[in-house]
Amino acid sequence: MICDSRIRDELGRTLESTHIDGLGERTQGKVRDSYRRPGIRIIIATDRISAFDCVLGTVPFKGQVLNQLAAFWFEKTGALAPNHVVDVPDPNVMVVEECDQLAIEFVVRGYITGITNTSPWTQYQRGIRDYCGHRLPDGLRRDQKLDAPILTPTTKLEKHDRPLSRQAAIAEGLIDAATFEAASAICLKLYDFGARHAARQGLILADTKYELGLRNGAVKVTDEMHTPDSSRYWFADTYRELFDAGRDQRKLDKEYVREWCAGLGFRGDGAPPAMPDEVRVEAAKRYIRAYEIITGREFKAPDEPVAGRIESALKTKGYLAP
Ligand SMILES: Nc1ncnc2c1ncn2[C@@H]1O[C@H](COP(=O)(O)OP(=O)(O)O)[C@@H](O)[C@H]1O
Ligand SMILES: [Mg+2]
Repeated sequence: MICDSRIRDELGRTLESTHIDGLGERTQGKVRDSYRRPGIRIIIATDRISAFDCVLGTVPFKGQVLNQLAAFWFEKTGALAPNHVVDVPDPNVMVVEECDQLAIEFVVRGYITGITNTSPWTQYQRGIRDYCGHRLPDGLRRDQKLDAPILTPTTKLEKHDRPLSRQAAIAEGLIDAATFEAASAICLKLYDFGARHAARQGLILADTKYELGLRNGAVKVTDEMHTPDSSRYWFADTYRELFDAGRDQRKLDKEYVREWCAGLGFRGDGAPPAMPDEVRVEAAKRYIRAYEIITGREFKAPDEPVAGRIESALKTKGYLAP
């Protein structure tokens, strides 16, 4: 594992945003910058971190971790479900097929948990037993494994995610029934694959979010996959003991930063708190550890500063004029 001082060295030169002339039409998401040209999208994973749908700052190496993890999973699952990947020209960059993104995202949950207003555990505690069209039994406890994984769609194009049932998604005209069925079959298959791989690495994939899109009428997996930003990973060895004691799970995901925010009273409204270097370094270590445990590979921190390296890689691979 990379040493603390290497992470600290990086604090002052993280990738906050990119503006690359000649690469394509730029749009900025919370975490990634996209450059679009006919048929393709060049996605640069920056080091920005978001929680509760707000950008808080940057975390060293986060962009690289996220992009390389997504690339790892897309490669592993390519035979199971078609995805958007065309090329990974740099550790922070993915070239993908431009798709018409579906208006809803799909969360697959194997466990009942969460701390936001709309998360199933919060709702369940308030007495709600119907979550996104799934009937939940009485007597569940926080972080309990569900009898079978459930698929819970949420809206994508609103500021904060809104969970909804299959029926509501179709009734609201967000998706048609055939596309919903195709998407849901893919997501459940991917979750099952991901959860089994995670288990072999000593982890529990508690839940995860998928985005899908259409390309020439076919459903493809887009965006990122099974990353710590889009998933909850828990350590399997301590799951039972912590669950029985009613304590928080040991996590390998961005819950650390979410909880740090929530501890300061920030849950998405008002100005986000500034992240101290200590928190940025700790978050970086967790992201890197996540990469290493999930992939079983050692994380390599390139020597060259990230911004210049990306541009040279794009030139070498012919995406930018030299
Ligand atoms: N293959 C694709 N085609 C079109 N859009 C995509 C594709 N893959 C990902 N995207 C979009 O690219 C953006 C990635 O940036 P991100 O920082 O995640 O944005 P957001 O703030 O919307 O979550 C997202 O809006 C995502 O929906
Ligand atoms: Mg996103």
